[in-house]
Amino acid sequence: MKICMVGAGYVGLVSGACFADFGHDVVCVDADPSKIERLHAGVMPIYEPGLEDLVRRNVAAGRLTFTTSLAEGVAGAGAVFIGVGTPSRRGDGHADLSYVYAAARDIAANLTGDAVVVTKSTVPVGTGDEVERIIREAGCPHRVSVVSNPEFLREGAAIGDFKRPDRIVIGAEDEYGRETMREVYRPLFLNQAPILFTGRRTSELIKYAANAFLATKITFINEIADLCEAVGADVQDVSRGIGLDNRIGPKFLHAGPGYGGSCFPKDTLALLKTAQDYDTHVRIVEAVVAVNDNRKRAMGRKVIAAMASCGGGEVRGKTVALLGLTFKPNTDDMRDAPSLAIAQALMDAGASVVAYDPEGMELAAPMLPGVTMAANAYAAIENADAVVLVTEWDAFRALDLKRIAREAATPLLVDLRNVYNPAEARAAGLTYVSVGRD
Ligand code: UGA
Repeated sequence: MKICMVGAGYVGLVSGACFADFGHDVVCVDADPSKIERLHAGVMPIYEPGLEDLVRRNVAAGRLTFTTSLAEGVAGAGAVFIGVGTPSRRGDGHADLSYVYAAARDIAANLTGDAVVVTKSTVPVGTGDEVERIIREAGCPHRVSVVSNPEFLREGAAIGDFKRPDRIVIGAEDEYGRETMREVYRPLFLNQAPILFTGRRTSELIKYAANAFLATKITFINEIADLCEAVGADVQDVSRGIGLDNRIGPKFLHAGPGYGGSCFPKDTLALLKTAQDYDTHVRIVEAVVAVNDNRKRAMGRKVIAAMASCGGGEVRGKTVALLGLTFKPNTDDMRDAPSLAIAQALMDAGASVVAYDPEGMELAAPMLPGVTMAANAYAAIENADAVVLVTEWDAFRALDLKRIAREAATPLLVDLRNVYNPAEARAAGLTYVSVGRD
């Protein structure tokens, strides 16, 4: 089947390349000519492990092409996916759907035959209805079914998540839509990936409910970590102790500096707006958003407190080294990264901040104008009064702790991801502070 992917951003590009790898004929359309030019040259607009190779192979096999022309992409396509951005609208936090609706209008004007139009972007409940209305009102002469098919990809693990999904969710209102989507996902059917057919509005809500629930799990364990610190318990053992209960499950129970990224912060906020619009309450999600927002800056205060109790006194004039800036490892994404609030809190207290990140520094530098970027982890820690592990990149999992104790001005390691064993860190000569444990 010919598949057209409108939007060659994170979701569009990963999904398009994976569909091509299944053997479909995929055209990715993007309005940004420089992005398409770079893709033609094999240069990826985002950092995602395995993506460059996947794109190269499928381009070489003639199954994956890129264009700025929507008419070219849509012509003859049996399924047209909308994978454009839905950023938080400035001012009110609602998802900005202008790109989705513009895509729907353009698709309606360019379809050359019957097609299923699929929203893959994360869109609030009712967006599919609006897309359907736009296409109908554009006077499109072909049979069109509008379907919702949310993505559940994690940055850094997106290709594996696409090819071995926990489930595929399809929200369709007619058999034509369902049948076309069965065809699109047939290779995964063969792998016995569970596929869940629902109504369109239900499918749209599943995406938000899933992300809000995961954000809640993280925020819950982060508050339990604070309680562990207060009562002298160990949050990692608490996570293990509750996670072994199958009803709870072990995942997303790692305490840390708060969730960030392009999805949880935006989607939890959009869910609150939807609930408000429908005059209902999602008070748990409201609390999650507030607690998580507060936590990021609180991690800056945690570092300041550790420096004070390490005999350093005033933080003004001291240097703090941040290891890791991206919101999680294996991505260069800096959106809503906890490092932004942590660095700001430290600079507000008068500290100088030096940082190193394996992939994120290019995007981070303009967002953190006062921060000095170092060439590597050891260059960052040289003469630092505190070393803070912010993002758990593999490269930071086996640091030479004795060298840190030797080369930092003060041998203080604040490990916000609980990567190190406290006893080993202390044996290496460090004052070691982590999250939710002694
Ligand atoms: C998230 C979801 O996991 C995906 O299923 C979903 O498709 C995606 O959003 C989306 O809506 O597009 P992602 O934002 O890439 O994926 O990253 P996650 O791995 O979920 O991590 C999100 C944040 O939570 C990170 O800041 C991470 O450090 C934090 N986290 C995660 C924790 O602090 N503790 C945990 O136990 C897990």
